[in-house]
Amino acid sequence: MKTLDETTFSPAGDNGWLVLKFGGTSVSSSDRWETIRDLIQERVDAGYRVLVVHSALAGVSDRLQELLKEAVSGDCEERLATLLELHFTLSLELGLDGSALLHDDVEELRGLLAQIHTVGHVRPSVHARVLALGELMATRLGAAWLHGQGLAVTWLDAREILSSKEHVKGSARAAYLSADCDFDLDPDCQARLSALPGTVLTQGFIAANHKGETVLLGRGGSDTSASYLAAKLGAVGLEIWTDVAGVFSANPRIVTGARQLKALSYQEAQEIASTGGSVLHPRSISPLRRDRIPLRIRCTAQPELAGTLIARDLAGDAPGVKAISGRTGITLISMETLGMWHEVGFLADAFRCFSDLGLSIDLVSTSESSVTVTLDTRAQAIEAGTLDELTQRLESLCRVHIIEQAEVVSLVGQKIRAILHEIGPAMEVFEEHRIHLVSQAANDLNLSFVVGEDQAQRLIQKLHATLVRPAQDDAVFGRTWEELKQGEVTARPGTEPWWVRKRSRLLEIATVEDAAYVYDLDTVRGAADRLQGLDGVRKVFYALKANSHPDILRVVRDAGLSLECVSAGELRLVLELFPGIDRQRILFTPNFAPREEYEYAFREKVWVTLDNLYPLGHWAEMFSGREILLRLDTGQGRGHHRHVRTEGSHTKFGIPMFELEEVRRLVESCGATVVGLHAHSGSGILKEDHWSDVAAALLEAAREFPATRYVNLGGGLGVPEMPGQPVLDLGALNEGLKGIRQDGDLELWLEPGRYLVAEAGVLVTRVTQIKGKGHARYVGVATGMNSLIRPALYGSHHEIVNLSRLDEPGKHVVSVVGPICESADLLGSERLLPECREGDVLLVANAGAYGFVMSSRYNLREPAREFAI
Ligand code: LLP
Repeated sequence: MKTLDETTFSPAGDNGWLVLKFGGTSVSSSDRWETIRDLIQERVDAGYRVLVVHSALAGVSDRLQELLKEAVSGDCEERLATLLELHFTLSLELGLDGSALLHDDVEELRGLLAQIHTVGHVRPSVHARVLALGELMATRLGAAWLHGQGLAVTWLDAREILSSKEHVKGSARAAYLSADCDFDLDPDCQARLSALPGTVLTQGFIAANHKGETVLLGRGGSDTSASYLAAKLGAVGLEIWTDVAGVFSANPRIVTGARQLKALSYQEAQEIASTGGSVLHPRSISPLRRDRIPLRIRCTAQPELAGTLIARDLAGDAPGVKAISGRTGITLISMETLGMWHEVGFLADAFRCFSDLGLSIDLVSTSESSVTVTLDTRAQAIEAGTLDELTQRLESLCRVHIIEQAEVVSLVGQKIRAILHEIGPAMEVFEEHRIHLVSQAANDLNLSFVVGEDQAQRLIQKLHATLVRPAQDDAVFGRTWEELKQGEVTARPGTEPWWVRKRSRLLEIATVEDAAYVYDLDTVRGAADRLQGLDGVRKVFYALKANSHPDILRVVRDAGLSLECVSAGELRLVLELFPGIDRQRILFTPNFAPREEYEYAFREKVWVTLDNLYPLGHWAEMFSGREILLRLDTGQGRGHHRHVRTEGSHTKFGIPMFELEEVRRLVESCGATVVGLHAHSGSGILKEDHWSDVAAALLEAAREFPATRYVNLGGGLGVPEMPGQPVLDLGALNEGLKGIRQDGDLELWLEPGRYLVAEAGVLVTRVTQIKGKGHARYVGVATGMNSLIRPALYGSHHEIVNLSRLDEPGKHVVSVVGPICESADLLGSERLLPECREGDVLLVANAGAYGFVMSSRYNLREPAREFAI
């Protein structure tokens, strides 16, 4: 195992303390403990004195937090049992007698919980003691096991060496739950620890106040403990061992090409942590920075990796973007008044409204007539009603506009001003993203943009692709997340995608086709059954524009779904395939269609949705005596890309809410009845409460149309693009809808397309040629944007694997391109693939929705043919 030779810590001297901190996942299994033992042993052998700081077992702090709530009502036995079980299971795995080792802690925990029940609330001092037991119990197990392994280890109560500052700013609660400690070099602490035999092992997250009571260090507390102790001991270094291999140039969940950062200065690390990076808490950096103690972040599951080194002036002072970070949960408040120009005291008065309500402002930007600020709702809990109160107070000074659910996207790196010219091309991305605020930090370390939360992800991907393009063997950027993770990824049997299980069938198809779309009907059936199982929805229509392959339509129809068509062509296909189908199961929702298509739909007696006043005004006779649905624009455009957001004044869809009165008049005058309202806000939405928001808006509008029986909430149910991205929680979506007022004969409808077919379809295609151009590597395949235009059109991400070499490790980071004469002919960039050879079959996943249906014969190249299996 390579470890010490890669560190840059000075050799162990007289006072060679080295602090090792391990997080929750690192201390929760016996194999990780074996790694920890070896790491300590190596460092002891190299002459260091080792101080180990570790957290509670994974998930324990959250469970203790829940226990506190339940203890008030007294009903917490079950959760307590689960919590203890976690510890006893690990004890058993480690061959320890858990009940003896933890007896006193468990008694204390029971006593505290009983006390909470008696007084009926949780005092902050008791809260701190309960939470502290997570760390205390975990470290007792850790110390006992290491001792049993023959290591000289002394267990130490962190409260004896870390004391919180007496005069904390803020409430008494904060003094107990997010305390600060002094971290000056501490000769007493040094002497005390030096006198203890062997490796010293203590808890993160906890300290004592001047009265000797337990206090907590708040979020990121264990890292902060380790950093305080390193500073107090004047340690030669701190190693934080966690579940990721260091700090990355972007969140790897969003950017697969995110690169490990080999080296960062303290300031950069602090900036990345403060602008959204989640590996480190910003508070843990300043003690190290003051004393110039180097910090290395490493991964317990992959101890052979060198991780990220954070130290002084490591990367030289060359300007450059090191990371693109995103911080969600931002609320933007803009205050406008003409009166502030040259007016003394406006800002002071406005800011006082914030401070009086205890709100801490994050970013600020000002102009002659407006001031815009952001609040970070993740960093400070803002109570319900506080924003209303703030608005009221501010309204006496200015006009106020609040935008919730915004995200700050930051470019981080030193001397960011000096590279403004380089980010020119990246600025193109703002053509399609509305920026609410731009802020350039005075320390010249970040440039931040506030955009809507639903736009941030794509923006981060684009900025990363444009700005982070390292040369090979770059001093700052290491390997990509995918490269580092490979080898560690062990898909559990049964959870692998269908195309792994059906690989031989796919390869067989690819022997006769250069390129083919293959659809797995079982997967379509699975999605259809999940949707049919939603009891908050009465009817689900499949939007067949996503994929109109007849076999898929049959599966969907057989599963009991209805069908939504947007053109006479789609309608004709459905009627040809299912001539006897109940017409109530067909919905026609066109946009700017010619008159004859509506006539055709009415003749066929299917449901018709109108999304414009024009037909009512100009073809009135067609609607006489008809029951119709109206598509409204509720103004809540959402979706994965600007092109697929279908609400808001910039889109051509739907009847705006301000035309409701007029549409009601027109409907009446042509003798029609509105029996349903509809809205489709966009496509690729992963936010479960979206559909209940739409329902609320439509139910409000339904007051104008008393005959409304159907409320169609549209489609747009998203499917994750990136591996590891959370899936849409249908259960939560359903619960949200069940909570909506639903009268006896009011039906909620949905009309998803993508959700049914995206994962069921793959594009398989043969490798044609390979090319290297400078540092760039290209793998060419037989089809490109003529078969799958989504990456070119929306920048969509589709996972790509080499199906012929599924078991081979990734070797090169490449762009996968097609044969079409356009630079946008790209199926994926920065993908880690094994060495690809001519004739290999590459598989592009998640291509069942809006794949074949959007294909073309551009360049007179036939798109991939379709196969259903
Ligand atoms: N209802 C209406 C009125 C629609 O316009 C659409 C899609 C849907 C339902 C189904 O939306 P879904 O559940 O599939 O998100 N080509 C783009 C998607 C365009 C969606 C157009 N309308 C893409 O590849 O992402």
